[in-house]
Amino acid sequence: MSDSIPNLLIYLIIAGLSVAYFIFRKKATSPGLSEEMADVQNAAAEGFGASEQVFPPSAEFVAKARVKGMDGYKKLYRESIEHPEKFWADEAKELTWFEPWTKVLDESKKPFFKWFVDGKTNICYNCIDAQIKKGLGEKVAIVFEGEPTQNGAATEVRRITYKELLVEVSRFANVLKELGLQKGDTVAIYMPMVPELAFAVLACARIGVVHSVVFGGFSAESIRDRVNDAKSKAVITMDGGYRRGKFLALKQTVDEAVQDCPTCERVLVLQRHAGKPDAACAMKAGRDVWYHDVASKVSSDCPAVWQESNEMLFLLYTSGSTGKPKGIIHGTGGYMLQAYTTNKYVFDLRNDDLFWCTADVGWVTGHTYVVYGPLLNGASVLMYEGAPDAPDYSRFWKIVEDHKVTVFYTAPTAIRAFMKWGDEWVKKHNLSSLRLLGSVGEPINPEAWLWYHRNIGAERCPIVDTWWQTETGGHMITPIPGCTPTKPGSATLPFFGVDAAVLDEQGNETDSGILAIRKPWPGITQGIFGDEKRYIEAYWSRWNGAYYFPGDGAIKDKDGYLWITGRVDDVVNVSGHRIGTAELEAVFIENAAVAESAVIGVKHELKGQGLMAFVILKSAAAKTVNEETLAKTLNGMVDTKIGKFARPERIVFVSDLPKTRSGKIMRRLLRDISEGRELGNVSTLADPAVVESIRNKFNNK
Ligand code: PRX
Repeated sequence: MSDSIPNLLIYLIIAGLSVAYFIFRKKATSPGLSEEMADVQNAAAEGFGASEQVFPPSAEFVAKARVKGMDGYKKLYRESIEHPEKFWADEAKELTWFEPWTKVLDESKKPFFKWFVDGKTNICYNCIDAQIKKGLGEKVAIVFEGEPTQNGAATEVRRITYKELLVEVSRFANVLKELGLQKGDTVAIYMPMVPELAFAVLACARIGVVHSVVFGGFSAESIRDRVNDAKSKAVITMDGGYRRGKFLALKQTVDEAVQDCPTCERVLVLQRHAGKPDAACAMKAGRDVWYHDVASKVSSDCPAVWQESNEMLFLLYTSGSTGKPKGIIHGTGGYMLQAYTTNKYVFDLRNDDLFWCTADVGWVTGHTYVVYGPLLNGASVLMYEGAPDAPDYSRFWKIVEDHKVTVFYTAPTAIRAFMKWGDEWVKKHNLSSLRLLGSVGEPINPEAWLWYHRNIGAERCPIVDTWWQTETGGHMITPIPGCTPTKPGSATLPFFGVDAAVLDEQGNETDSGILAIRKPWPGITQGIFGDEKRYIEAYWSRWNGAYYFPGDGAIKDKDGYLWITGRVDDVVNVSGHRIGTAELEAVFIENAAVAESAVIGVKHELKGQGLMAFVILKSAAAKTVNEETLAKTLNGMVDTKIGKFARPERIVFVSDLPKTRSGKIMRRLLRDISEGRELGNVSTLADPAVVESIRNKFNNK
């Protein structure tokens, strides 16, 4: 008995300390930390970087893998960092160049890097013609499944061989030429996920026309802004496409958009569903043409033009920390190599693979891992038009079983939806064809990782959690399957040639801070279209320009593994869609009743992050307005100005916002309130009472 009292005391002290530790960890931040570092610390408190579980690659996988074991990875990685020019030149030689480069990397205009200077190539040629030359002409390049079903079976399945792809793409390129488009012109593409979208992209590349794909969920105003910014000469669209059983008309949205697009001379319209009344399109004479009308008259032979490696291949708009989306520029040769090598090593693609990346071609993942990367590797790629829950929750798994998909690449938000829908939908199907799984777009929570591992991968398939961005062109931090032991929730280690570091604000290496990349890599963006200054300011102005700043926080664990904690700038990742909070704020301020607003990203069970809007009304409006009605109006404005996917979870009307004495909104405090955390450091607030009133309003709903 006398012994047990000290034991009890010790136990109580330990328990007390643990509780104190837990409270300390739960408490948002320590004083003096910047907003960015506070975000990373919050993530650390929530368990990022803490998992001790390690999953080595299976012996079965290692036996076949291209790079074997960590020794294999380390050797190649070391070579790629110590002799990057040699490493990348060796890789580039696996592709076709019409004329050799004179210099692998030109850094003289840093941060506008040039790769494979003077080298002449064509990415479309490498994707198609080169594969046919290798004897893959009869191989299926694209397997397509449309969304509509009858008695549970897809009504439209197409298999397009490399030879057929060449015919389709060449004909498409000739149609573009008929419309007067030439090398160096830009066209916008607004289409559903059908093979013709891939044809359109490849046809542009074939003749040196720059493509600017706009995701089909964007509104007319978003298309307009992108067409105008890029000075696109034409828009390629379709009557519509299927999504959750509905036919979504796209051409009408384009009509609305191009009314205010002075540079857009032509609209090329493809037909998804001939004769369907809601697919009818009003065709404006002199501007609009049906694709099939022109296609029937042109040849299906079109030589690929030679592109200097640094000529522009595409523009892709993405959100940043201001209200105006950025036109991210990608060149030809460097991007091609990033797409090629990452597909080769990270998906370990081989001749008998059927690769399915579920992303829409409207986003960068679809560019690099639906169209370019798999075709550059001579793989077969699956394209599915519709939603994962159409006609029921098992659609994806039925597709995997029916087509024997071997490599499957999706987003954490989709995985969380599958978890919610229940395992029975998965169990109905035989997924034994799968050998490798991938995740992309946002941090994957360990719970989702483990579910994916067990239920989809049968504890057999490695998972590659790939961190990268529109700006990087391809994977940057990722396991190499067959080499890297994985930890649920960690994107693990840098890809070849990627010199990654975690830094504090001063540029010192740290364990938890901001992700930074030291050396240029082939897929690096060539800048922001029409705004060199913004490119330098957004990505290269910190740490004396010595590092690329991607905008993400990261934790480095004891094994050097990287855990991406999420954005540290004012960009929010909603279901893997990047949305700038300033874009929503710019929408709200257009409403006459709104004085000011602050939009933040908050944790969301399914979407990863959701948007939360805090809106101050002008004093006259505040007295009369019905908040519910106004919230509906504001949501409607988001739909028309950006797209439905950018709607906030909730709009909270408040009388003030937490600001520093210099007037800067302290969004971190709004996040603390929204996520139910104890408030972080409030000593810099001009009026500490404001947060209490916001908290009350928030909690009362
Ligand atoms: O925050 C990171 C997150 O997505 C951002 C890039 O978004 P976007 O340019 O639209 O490209 C998405 C597809 C690559 C990054 O800054 N992100 C992407 N992949 C991951 C990720 N965050 C954590 N883990 C990932 N695997």
